Amino acid sequence: MVGSDRHAQAAFAAGADGVIAQGTEAGGHTGKVSTFALVPQVVDVAAGRPVVAAGGIGDGRGLVAALALGAQGAVMGTRFLASRESTAHDNFKAKIVASRAEDTVITRAYTGKTARHLRNRYIELWEGREEEILGAPLQRILVEPMAAAARTAGAMDYASSASGQVVGLIKDVPGAAEILERVVREAEELLDQGLWRRLSTAGHPGIGSNR
Ligand SMILES: Cc1cc2nc3c(=O)[nH]c(=O)nc-3n(C[C@H](O)[C@H](O)[C@H](O)COP(=O)(O)O)c2cc1C
Repeated sequence: MVGSDRHAQAAFAAGADGVIAQGTEAGGHTGKVSTFALVPQVVDVAAGRPVVAAGGIGDGRGLVAALALGAQGAVMGTRFLASRESTAHDNFKAKIVASRAEDTVITRAYTGKTARHLRNRYIELWEGREEEILGAPLQRILVEPMAAAARTAGAMDYASSASGQVVGLIKDVPGAAEILERVVREAEELLDQGLWRRLSTAGHPGIGSNR
């Protein structure tokens, strides 16, 4: 899992066969570069080795965009949190469905490392006091008993709830198979009929008109 072209160089130098390029939009531990900027840079570093895109992908449009950027596939995390099979508490799933992209924040408050979570009371208590947060792994050792108990209880004011900006796209809690079927169907429709026509009718007659 890499968050910059530099990480990718290090991973390949260490013998990795392929990498996941995860943009800052992603849920969980994350870096500073957006998926859209990151993936092609990592693809260039990979020089033919497999790259899978992650961060902000929640439907067929995201999958097609990832492929267009040079990735071989996509990882979806947050989308599957809000699935029937996910073991996340129902309150967590409901909060994902109700949240907008801006309701996620990057914080060190749970683990000592930067991670994107749904904003809650606990994260707000640390705002303005970031220098008091311990480094990894100490912050997590300190906080995890509270965070885990809150997750189990569905106490979203204190539960760690790693989620990406794609929450703004998530409106339901279907089965995991249905999520995959939708993503593939949307991607196929876009690739089969949508994209060339959109290019040729974007006010530039002629572009794509031979397709
Ligand atoms: C609740 C949660 C836990 C995660 N835990 C890990 C982890 O332990 N290791 C890891 O490499 N990535 C972890 N991730 C990141 C995912 O593997 C994936 O890259 C990310 O969710 C993709 O971005 P998205 O959330 O926008 O779909 C986690 C993500 C979430 C939402």
